[in-house]
Amino acid sequence: MRVLGIETSCDETGVAVYDTERGLLAQTLHSQVAMHEAYGGVVPELASRDHVRRVVPLAGQALAEAGMRVGDLDGIAYTRGPGLAGALLVGASVACALAYALRKPAIGVHHLEGHLLSPLLSDPRPQFPFVALLVSGGHSQLFEVAGVGRYRLLGDTQDDAAGEAFDKTAKLLGLPYPGGPALAALAERGTPGAVHLPRPMQHSGNLDFSFSGLKTAVLTLARREAGASAPATLPESRKADIAREFEAAIVDVLAAKSLAALEATGLRTLVVAGGVGANRALRARLVREAGASGNEVFFPDLAYCTDNGAMIALVGALRLPNARADDFCFSIKPRWDLATLAAP
Ligand code: KG4
Ligand code: ZN
Repeated sequence: MRVLGIETSCDETGVAVYDTERGLLAQTLHSQVAMHEAYGGVVPELASRDHVRRVVPLAGQALAEAGMRVGDLDGIAYTRGPGLAGALLVGASVACALAYALRKPAIGVHHLEGHLLSPLLSDPRPQFPFVALLVSGGHSQLFEVAGVGRYRLLGDTQDDAAGEAFDKTAKLLGLPYPGGPALAALAERGTPGAVHLPRPMQHSGNLDFSFSGLKTAVLTLARREAGASAPATLPESRKADIAREFEAAIVDVLAAKSLAALEATGLRTLVVAGGVGANRALRARLVREAGASGNEVFFPDLAYCTDNGAMIALVGALRLPNARADDFCFSIKPRWDLATLAAP
């Protein structure tokens, strides 16, 4: 079974072809980072318009790379939500129009299910059941994953997501958009322990997170040293020290809660997904700690950590057996709770 996957929930247009027998056959991606850079963040209307320009050529390119024609497809998957409404509509309408023309199923995929299952695109792939740490720009959650569509929420953020904290802190230090990777790169040049920041909720006794206080702590520290209006004017080396400690604080909390989730569920496999899963310090720490306690940890390949079409095509293929080829009405879901999904 061959499925075309279309991702347009935010600022990346991603299209891929997944074959249930041969795996990922092709994937194409266009990042809008350069376009949004001047605004310091994603401008939703610009994002939608750019998806309109890119999605059909990228789909053509993905099919060509897979050596296929549209008629060879068995289903068309698209990101139904959560995400920016206008951006989601672009992928949904293209996918459903194509499905209608081919009389094949259109499969509306939950973006976070894509992230959650993206480690299945890598080799070796994790076996169910596992604990998943989902850390993206909008989410910091721990799930017990019993199988496809069988997700139990173990812990959630009470305020900012981990990626959001990276992005906001980077912005207040005057780093370029997108902030997360910029802050992580700067952190590599900082001195460990040169400053101290709190580890919010590390010992809270539950599996929830809170990261907004960390950003405020950075602001307070930077203002004390650089003056109220100019944290961004701190010397580069000092910013690097702060970035290093900020990253260490987030990694400490994420690692502690992930290991606690393994212990609470009695599971031995941890899967990390979402954009923050690309963070090198987090990866190194989890590999070390999980290994030391006899657990296994899986990450998606770096290309599948951030938004991409491959994870949407994969979930589309997993859900294809239950999809119908007679319903081409689509509804996007800009807000959509992952725990409400059913198994296929
Ligand atoms: O999963 P993703 O591409 O989009 C969402 O669904 O949100 O995640 C994007 C988030 C952003 O907040 C970005 O700053 C963060 O992931 N991110 C990182 C790194 N690469 C991306 N955060 C820390 N370190 C990185 N290397
Ligand atoms: Zn995402």
